[in-house]
Amino acid sequence: MKTRITELFKIDYPIIQGGMHFVGFAELAAAVSNAGGLGILTALTQKSPEDLSNEISRCKDLTDKPIGVNLTFLPAVFSPDYPSYIKAIIDGGVQIVETAGRNPQEHLPALKDAGIKVIHKCTSVRHALKAEAIGCDAVSVDGFECAGHPGEDDIPNFILLPLAAEKLSIPFVASGGMADGRSLVSALSLGADGINMGTRFMVTKEAPIHENVKKAIIDATELDTRLVMRPLRNTERVLINPSVQKVLELENELGSDLKFEDIAEEVVGVYPKVMLDGEVDAGAWSCGMVAGLINDTPSCDELIKSIISDANEIISGRLARMVN
Ligand SMILES: Cc1cc2nc3c(=O)[nH]c(=O)nc-3n(C[C@H](O)[C@H](O)[C@H](O)COP(=O)(O)O)c2cc1C
Repeated sequence: MKTRITELFKIDYPIIQGGMHFVGFAELAAAVSNAGGLGILTALTQKSPEDLSNEISRCKDLTDKPIGVNLTFLPAVFSPDYPSYIKAIIDGGVQIVETAGRNPQEHLPALKDAGIKVIHKCTSVRHALKAEAIGCDAVSVDGFECAGHPGEDDIPNFILLPLAAEKLSIPFVASGGMADGRSLVSALSLGADGINMGTRFMVTKEAPIHENVKKAIIDATELDTRLVMRPLRNTERVLINPSVQKVLELENELGSDLKFEDIAEEVVGVYPKVMLDGEVDAGAWSCGMVAGLINDTPSCDELIKSIISDANEIISGRLARMVN
């Protein structure tokens, strides 16, 4: 399949695995890239730029296909040493960076001078246009359905994607709620050049996370996610569990007096406990509504092949029959 995204990133299929904290390790990124998609390591999961260098080397030992690194720009109170992480990316020979969170403008020159293609993840058309204006090569448009941070506008992909298609000139992928061949065809028909998936890739054979997490996603329905941290304007879509219920009660109780410290126990340092130790109730962790569509644990190769063959069948079978 050929789109502007496959051309830009030199990949076989327009399917990207978005950066995921404590999920986007070398095993998953390499498996996605080996299957013809674009696998992405998550920089900040690595404690230091040196650790990121080692993870990039580990990933490059597992695949010779293009890989990417996610660089999430956190709210200003947390300040990792971004220039050193960027140096590790450049020195590691990575050609693609997925930026997310705050505006990446101050870091773009370093990335662009090294010939790196940048895809910025945004949750609104105005942010996507800003990313285009500052020189990003592509954007990932994350609808309200998505796992993680959907922003504060609450616009689902059926509205967001056609609006993005009308306004943007650079290529973009649809992110949030994508799971299968049907998602890919819908995204392409709404004007996107491919899809980005998070939650779906967590439930694959190669995702190096605890089986309890994969089971929790398979058991979940589309009704089982909640939005936390809205009063802090740092909204995150997470899977419901007792810790999340506690956060929601505190948010309800404290209203506009809520401070980050009030919920820190439920949201800070949670990912290693959940993803590595399988303590799925240890705190709040990102999960998309798409959990309702996930019922199996394929390999990344099986998943990507089935998405492409189902998409081909929908386009040249079911849809073609409708218009002929
Ligand atoms: C467990 C988990 C952790 C995530 N961590 C990050 C992250 O650190 N940085 C980031 O930009 N996006 C992160 N995301 C968001 C994904 O990259 C992707 O945008 C999102 O999952 C798309 O929605 P979907 O899950 O419906 O496919 C995370 C998602 C999940 C499920």
